[in-house]
Formats: sequence, C-alpha cells, structure tokens
Amino acid sequence: MSDQNLAAATTLIRKTQAPGGLAPVVQTFFDEATNTASHVVHDPDTSRGAIIDSVLDFDAAAGRTTTQSADAIIAHVRAQNLTIDWLLETHAHADHLSAAPYLQRHLGGELAIGRDIIQVQNVFGKIFNAGTEFARDGSEFDRLFADGDIFALGNMPAIALHVPGHTPADMAYVIGDAVFTGDTLFMPDYGTARTDFPGGCARDLYRSIRRLLSLPDSTRLFLCHDYKTATRTEYAWETTVAEERQRNIHAHEGITEDEFFRMRTARDATLPAPKLLLPSIQVNMRAGHLPPAEANGTTYLKVPLNIL
Ligand SMILES: [Fe+2]
Repeated sequence: MSDQNLAAATTLIRKTQAPGGLAPVVQTFFDEATNTASHVVHDPDTSRGAIIDSVLDFDAAAGRTTTQSADAIIAHVRAQNLTIDWLLETHAHADHLSAAPYLQRHLGGELAIGRDIIQVQNVFGKIFNAGTEFARDGSEFDRLFADGDIFALGNMPAIALHVPGHTPADMAYVIGDAVFTGDTLFMPDYGTARTDFPGGCARDLYRSIRRLLSLPDSTRLFLCHDYKTATRTEYAWETTVAEERQRNIHAHEGITEDEFFRMRTARDATLPAPKLLLPSIQVNMRAGHLPPAEANGTTYLKVPLNIL
C-alpha cells in the first residue's frame, strides 16, 4: 500500500520537474522565538495556495497570545493576491501554538492534519482532563488525511504521506516537487527530531525517513524547524533528498535502523521538555483553538503536575 503512494508521489515530483512542468512557489516565514519555519506555498498558475505549520505568538510568562507572525503571513497572502485553500498542520506541535484558526478566520481555507491526530487527542485529552466538549474524534479539523490521500492547490496536485515517528500522527505533504516534511527530517547538519513524546517511536521515524528519502534525488524538502549548528550561523529550512541521503548526520544512507534507534533513544534521554510543551499541546490538540472560557469569561491553560 505505502509503495503505491510513494510511487504516486515520485510520479508527481518527476512530472513537476520535467520540461513544461510548473513548480509551486514557496515563501517561508521563520519564527526565531520557536525556531519554526512556516511555509506559504502556491500554484503560480492559479494563485491558489496553502499555509503550512503557522505560529501563534505566545508569551508564556504573561499568558498572552499575539499575532505578529500570522499577520505577516496574511500580508504576504494579500500582497500576492493568493487564495488560501488549505491550512495544513504536519502534526500536533509541542513547541509552538498553531495560528491556523486565526488565519482561517481571515483567509478561509480548510484546516487539515493526519487522521491519527485522534490518537494524540485521546492521550492528551486524558492528561489535560478535558471535558466532554472536547470530542477527540478529529472533528475540530475540516479534513483528516490518510496516507496517499490526494488534494490540490488550484491546478497543482498534492499527496499526503503518513510519516509516523516524531509523533504517531505526523504527515508530510508532497505539493508538486516540494515536500513539506514537518519534523520528520531537519537540515543534514542538524539531523532528526526527538521521538520521546507519547506515541513517538524511533523505529517508525527511521522507516518514515527512509520512505521520504526514496523520493527522487532532486526533490525539494522544506523543513518545519531549524536550530543552526556550532558551525552554521544562518537559519536554513530547505534541502533536497540527495543532500539528506548523503549527509544527514543521523540518518544518511548506510545507517541501519538499529544504529538509528540506539542514537535517537540515547539522545532523547538527555533532552529537556520543550519550553512551550504544555501550552502547545492543549491548544494544538484542539486544532489551534483555545480551550473554552470559564464562567468568568477568561480562558485558562492547565499545568498537569508530575505527569509528563
Ligand atoms: Fe514537532
């Protein structure tokens, strides 16, 4: 089943890169506060597009959300005269709040994520003791993608691929010749994402990476995060399948699943919880909506003690 979906993605990428093919235009907005790369991708033929992994600014100390990052995206969309068809989340992020509902209010579009978000909603719904108003059936989203699902940005075909590992619900989106990998891969000199969140799995991540890296060499990869490195002083978020296959420090060609598993598990054991883990998860499990206000009209976020 998965090979067929990968074959369809390969065909789409080859067709896009062949003479006469039209590649999608990608504009990236990088949020230094959370190291997140949000991408606006559009079909130059029809000016229809998608916003992938947006950020709602959040000052945790003050408990205040603001929208400078999302407003910069809205300004770009309006300046380019784009129609937004999709607000795509690659997964329920644990390090920033999603601005997808805010962007949807201003720009329209369908809010989509992978269908295994239901697993994530059930785990974290329990942890946060969310009430019955939190349905945990994915209904907070407009569309739940399964592996191989086909969608479009205007005339630009797109394919959703399920790439579990970082979380059980991670998706990568193949749009023309561009693949939005979420947290399945980072820049070659930085490596890969942690797999120690509930439902995460280093072996699944290895297999998902191998799957993406079997796409054509020239496939453009757009990543969700970057942290620079000891020797690289500029943020970066675009690479190719060939570069990752040759040089990814955690997952280049030749590294076995067992080697990857040992490296990833040892490294994960040393990582602290992301600064915005608790606020992010309880908002993002609701598709980026804040929890319902209490009787006094104020919205609160919870801090479960000694659970995570
Ligand atoms: Fe993530």
